This record gives sequence, structure tokens and C-alpha cells, in this order.
Amino acid sequence: MKLITIAIDGHSSCGKSTMAKDLAKEIGYIYIDTGAMYRAVTLFALQNGLISEEGIDEEGLRERMSDIMITFQLNEETGRPDTYLNGVCVERDIRTMEVSKYVSPIATLGFVREAMVDLQRLMGEAKGVIMDGRDIGTVVFPDAELKVFVTASVDVRAQRRFDELTAKGEKCDFEEIKANVIERDRIDSTREISPLRQAEDAIVLDNSNLTIPEQKNWLLEQYYRVAGED
Ligand code: DC
Repeated sequence: MKLITIAIDGHSSCGKSTMAKDLAKEIGYIYIDTGAMYRAVTLFALQNGLISEEGIDEEGLRERMSDIMITFQLNEETGRPDTYLNGVCVERDIRTMEVSKYVSPIATLGFVREAMVDLQRLMGEAKGVIMDGRDIGTVVFPDAELKVFVTASVDVRAQRRFDELTAKGEKCDFEEIKANVIERDRIDSTREISPLRQAEDAIVLDNSNLTIPEQKNWLLEQYYRVAGED
């Protein structure tokens, strides 16, 4: 099998990361959750008083970008990588509703995107990587050998996020989550820099009616098809 780059893009909460993580584990590739990177920047901004009722202190954040170090470390227990912000594991803290509320506006900032894209290219330069996000197949790795664009209905996605947060013991409201999913779709798809869109050569997967094992098998088949080519 040849070593390839796999780009998985799509709407929020459509199970991209679950299928990407599972495939990475199965085929021994490095998995990079780029949404987690934008979430870590958002958490940093919240922790450092750069987000207030008046909005985001863009200049303040721009000045502090060099103080943000994002890394991933494999969690032996889950077999999946955890996100670290300046050496501290923030895997749980970046998934709260508060971070979800501000992450899309943070991800529209050009200087944030530039810094994250540079880091993503560095992390994936040796290939053998699966990266999930919004602009991987279009901007970060336009030459990726396998590109998948994942989507699912809004209700299905909101339900999945609701179940995820509830399982973690976080109190949440379905309608609030659904509104957040719709709002993030809107911001992600209409922003000026690198909006969420399907790459022309991406394969589309609507997983509204698929189980996790079904998705996993589908992706594995795509991988064998592409990586097995001469
Ligand atoms: O995948 P996620 O829901 O954890 O992503 C969080 C936010 O980050 C999402 O609203 C859009 C943004 N994002 C982005 O703009 N580009 C990426 N490559 C990944 C995520």
C-alpha cells in the first residue's frame, strides 16, 4: 500500500472525527483533528480575557498567537490522540458549549487560519495522515489522494452532539444545540477566507442513516481503493 494523505471535510457534528479516528487506528496513520486546533485557540482566548460581551479582542489575540502551542498526544487508554494547549491536556475543555459558541467566529480570522494551516501542513508533510476539518481538501492539502466530504441532516447532527454532551454529564438543551449547529454551518460556509465547501474531486458521504461500523467500512474501502492503486 502506498502512503497517502486523507482529507475529511464536512459540516459540524456529522461524525467526521469518529470515522477518521477509527480509520487512523486501523491503518496506523496519524490522525489530526483540525477543529480541535481552532477550539484550542478559542479556549486560549477565553482563558486570557480576549473574549468578552463586546466580542473578540482581535488585536489582543493576534499579539498572543505566538504564545499558543498546540500538540497532540496519544491517549493510551482510548487509543486516540488528545489535544494539548501549552502542555496541558484540554481535550475535555475544548468540547464545551462555551467554546462551541465562539469557535466559528475565531476560525474566520485570517491570522488564526494562517497559523493553523502552517502547523497542519507541517504535521502532515510526511503523509500517512488523516486530517479532518473544513478546508483540508481545498486549502491545506489540495493534492490529497483521498478526499471525502461528509454531511448529515441538521437534526441527526444535533442529536449526535446532544448525546455526546449528555454522555459526558454536561447539561444541555437540544434546541440550543440545534441552533448552534445551524449557526456554525452558516458562519463556516459564508466566511471570506477558506469557506467550507466540497472540493471538486471529493467523494460525498451522507451518513444520516449509517451506523458507525457502516461508515468505518465505507471509508476503509475507499482507502484500500486509493492506496492500492499503482
Ligand atoms: O470540527 P469542529 O466542530 O470541532 O470544528 C470547530 C470549528 O472550527 C468549526 O465551527 C469550524 C472551524 N474549523 C475550521 O474553520 N477549519 C477547519 N479545518 C476545522 C474547523
